[in-house]
Amino acid sequence: MFFREATVVEIKGLTKSFQQAQGQRLVVLDGLSLALQEGEQVAIVGESGSGKSTLLHLIAGLDKADAGEVFIDRSPILSMPPSEQARWRRKNLGIVFQFYHLLPELNLLENVMLPLMLLNYPDEQARDMTLELLGRFGLKKRAYDSVYGLSGGEMQRVAILRAVVHRPRIILADEPTGNLDLSMQDKVMRFLIDLCREMRITLITVTHSRHIAGMFERVFVLERGRLGEGLL
Ligand SMILES: Nc1ncnc2c1ncn2[C@@H]1O[C@H](COP(=O)(O)OP(=O)(O)OP(=O)(O)O)[C@@H](O)[C@H]1O
Ligand SMILES: [Mg+2]
Repeated sequence: MFFREATVVEIKGLTKSFQQAQGQRLVVLDGLSLALQEGEQVAIVGESGSGKSTLLHLIAGLDKADAGEVFIDRSPILSMPPSEQARWRRKNLGIVFQFYHLLPELNLLENVMLPLMLLNYPDEQARDMTLELLGRFGLKKRAYDSVYGLSGGEMQRVAILRAVVHRPRIILADEPTGNLDLSMQDKVMRFLIDLCREMRITLITVTHSRHIAGMFERVFVLERGRLGEGLL
């Protein structure tokens, strides 16, 4: 059989600037390029303000670029009409935030199955898939609990399960362990890395932490609007 690694993410010449109060333009991304294969896992490190979140927003199609394009599975994300973009995002993307963004009025099961509901899975199927996923991580008995009393590490695990439940092509994680204490950071990051590996989901994590970045096979440094690959 003939195997060929598929390119999942291809970013070409991405440029983004913001108008500043003083009337000047701040160029945050300056002709940035990147190519990632299916299932690849990368960390992007950079100083605060270097443009890490801006880059993730553009990959998700949540902002407009000045120039350049983001191709995911060869589809140009930034040129899609907004409705198509939204549909694409629901199906292909999972996002993990620093502050979890769980919905406190929903229980653990409902939080995790949310992406399946948005994709119009039948209720029962969505429930079964989610319970199966929760069961694999010893969380089935807590499925109907409120997420309110969970610890930070537990909340982020639940948020990670929500990000993978619909088996997206890509996970974008913005400082996913930034709000956790040191011992929990490693555990939660390992959880995310292992899940994505098992599901062959391409993972892009941005972080300040060189320690967290050191857990990845490939590390890029975002500096002066471009990505340099290298050793930390
Ligand atoms: N909507 C906006 N309008 C104006 N300036 C913005 C906007 N969004 C981001 N910026 C500026 O662009 C630069 C990059 O911001 P960004 O949030 O991408 O940095 P970051 O690397 O994620 O930083 P941090 O590590 O602190 O999260 C910053 O100087 C920020 O002030
Ligand atoms: Mg940021």
